[in-house]
Amino acid sequence: MTGLFSGLEPQPADGLLRLIVLFRDDPRPGKIDLGVGIFRDDDGATPVLGSVKAAERILIETQQSKSYLGPDGDVGFVERLEPIVFGAGADTSRLSGVQTPGGTGALRLAAELIARARPGARIWTGMPTWPNHAPIFEASGLEIAPHPFFDPETQRIEFAAMMNALESAEAGDAVLVHGSSHNPTGAELDEGQAEALTELIVRRGLVPLIDLAYQGLGHGLDEDAQLTRRLIAACDEALVAYSCDKNFGLYRERVGALWVQGPDAQATDVARQNMLVIARGIWSMPPDHGAAVVRIILEREDLTRMWRAELDEMRARIARIREKLAASHPLFAGAARQTGMFALLPLPPEAVAELREMHGIYMAGNGRINVAGLTDETVEVFAAAAAPLMKVIA
Ligand code: LMR
Repeated sequence: MTGLFSGLEPQPADGLLRLIVLFRDDPRPGKIDLGVGIFRDDDGATPVLGSVKAAERILIETQQSKSYLGPDGDVGFVERLEPIVFGAGADTSRLSGVQTPGGTGALRLAAELIARARPGARIWTGMPTWPNHAPIFEASGLEIAPHPFFDPETQRIEFAAMMNALESAEAGDAVLVHGSSHNPTGAELDEGQAEALTELIVRRGLVPLIDLAYQGLGHGLDEDAQLTRRLIAACDEALVAYSCDKNFGLYRERVGALWVQGPDAQATDVARQNMLVIARGIWSMPPDHGAAVVRIILEREDLTRMWRAELDEMRARIARIREKLAASHPLFAGAARQTGMFALLPLPPEAVAELREMHGIYMAGNGRINVAGLTDETVEVFAAAAAPLMKVIA
């Protein structure tokens, strides 16, 4: 008799997540972890934020019940995030949000909603992108239409090629937009490019799915929301998938939200009803702890102030290490123009393997480094090892 599971194909471990284990099991003392995107301080640690610890203490003292909240999760959490994402005083009457398990949950819910509204819908996706985008979209039955975004060899956005490709998108197609601190490249559209992209999206009737996972870690909370706010103001329909994993340092708690915007309040409400039905069928209700912690931080002025200061500190450290990397060797000059945690270096897979095997330097297989994983000491070590292996256009 053939067992049910004998029909399953073996699967490789997730390229990014396997780095956690490989790094942990490497006994070499000088090893450097530039793999998964987590913030690290000067000692290479990822401590729980002071504002999070304080909110957790309040939560433990005051929480009276752990009974269910419902498929939309902690409504107060979503409401408190809105002025941060969309701006204080922004008109949110056509927007409706629900709590999700991390940014990944938000993206999956968005993809399911799009597929429910239009089975087999297309989503335009700039390349390269976060390696989990394609599996999430494909699992929901969306068709991925790739378009150029960034060339690692020149370290430049391929803006003309991107716009050219998007001109062939059809009304109702979705388009993935990284809100800030692009993963994996750190490259950002300038003001004129953001305006031109928005104009194209509106003119062709496309629906932006904005992935905003690093708000506050690029230029600042308001600055990093500019593209999102611009698109929300211009478009009839839009989706915003949000993550608090990085800017609140809550990674494993899986804290996120998804907002939908419809052409009018009634359409938004129908979209929300569908989001709730889909969520009920996947995770039923999102986990509470992390979202409750964020809500408490945002409800209290003292904790909000503390969190903003901690976020400023994280951002300043990333910017300082970027400058240092850019100054370490001309081949890394692009790091100073880019923002957020990541840089995508023109390192072929053999070079990535060599850096890991010979130097104990761990990074994603596509040549992405987590800049926050470097320290003042290891920048030079990394630059000296990586520069000779880089593939560049003179
Ligand atoms: C990353 O890109 O390293 C992070 O977003 C972690 C993840 O889930 O892949």
